[in-house]
Amino acid sequence: MTILITGGAGYIGSHTCIELITASYDIVVLDNLSNSQNTVLDRIKKITKAIIPFENVDLRDTEALEAVFKKYNISAVIHFAGLKSVNESINKPIEYYDNNIAGTINLCKVMHQFDVKKMIFSSSAVVYGNPETVPIKENFPLSTFNPYGQSKLMTEQILNDIFISDNDWQIALLRYFNPVGAHKSGLIGEAPGGIPSNLMPYLSQVAVGKLDKLHVFGGDYDTPDGTCIRDFIHVVDLAKGHVKALDYFKNKKKGEVLTLNLGTGKGYSVLELIHTFQDITGKKIPYDIVDRRPGDIVISYASPELAEKVLSWKAEESLEDMCRDTWRWQSQNPSGYE
Ligand SMILES: NC(=O)c1ccc[n+]([C@@H]2O[C@H](COP(=O)([O-])OP(=O)(O)OC[C@H]3O[C@@H](n4cnc5c(N)ncnc54)[C@H](O)[C@@H]3O)[C@@H](O)[C@H]2O)c1
Repeated sequence: MTILITGGAGYIGSHTCIELITASYDIVVLDNLSNSQNTVLDRIKKITKAIIPFENVDLRDTEALEAVFKKYNISAVIHFAGLKSVNESINKPIEYYDNNIAGTINLCKVMHQFDVKKMIFSSSAVVYGNPETVPIKENFPLSTFNPYGQSKLMTEQILNDIFISDNDWQIALLRYFNPVGAHKSGLIGEAPGGIPSNLMPYLSQVAVGKLDKLHVFGGDYDTPDGTCIRDFIHVVDLAKGHVKALDYFKNKKKGEVLTLNLGTGKGYSVLELIHTFQDITGKKIPYDIVDRRPGDIVISYASPELAEKVLSWKAEESLEDMCRDTWRWQSQNPSGYE
């Protein structure tokens, strides 16, 4: 029985591969390498001593996808593959809907064809829009303001509808908060192509001297230091949540849709993150506070209680660990996997 990891060469996918191998799952990685490089597989091999079968396939290529399902005895899919930049999605909505929605529909069709009814999907806190209160619970109202967020919300809806039509499906919708950090080995981490759109990779590229200065969007919000507050979660904690979700379905047998937040339950401001990073690394981070960025949520952090109750999973790594591990990866690999 093999677990198919779509997008397994990417940031969260690669860390999840390691945790799955450690937990003795057999895996196969499928990725079109549009935002990753296959050197990551050599790094995973170095860490785990395991050789991972890899298929360079685009999810929208039905024939190639069917061939993968024919080749391996797939029992479940962890579905990371997708485009993930909010800002880019505003300029390229067709690309985002095609990749994230058409890709997922194609995957579901092939899963249906091969009678594979177990899927863990990478959703996001973006589906909560601008929440009225925090911590954010799974039953809060859902809304989004951009094509990326819409693609997550629509995929959740599609997967819910699939379950309504066939109650044998076991589906986990895991809503990630803000994944940061890297594997303790320093061999794998986040390696965005071009200028990073997320805070932590931007910050670490400033620290390593690849970028001049960090821009903090908005310093006059109604928060203790005026900057936005986020729930940063270590990518290895996040990866372990996926293993727990698979274990849960293995033991459960019955179909259901499990909707869970994966966050720490703690909110840190952008300035707190910068200061912690400086303290841990001893690197001075030059930054400017600039205008607010339209669409930014002011305060977002999870209630992770449901995930703890259902999966017996809890994030363990501190903000200091996240900064230390990010820096180890970034300083040892200033140009990512190149
Ligand atoms: N990183 C975050 O901040 C964050 C937060 C919430 C949710 N998510 C979601 O988690 C998932 C993984 O995110 P990540 O940070 O690891 O991103 P990533 O870009 O590092 O990984 C995604 C991988 O999917 C691959 N891919 C994209 N489209 C594909 C396609 N059509 N066919 C095959 N492979 C394809 C890319 O090459 C890449 O390796 C994404 O769905 C993302 O939307 C990420």
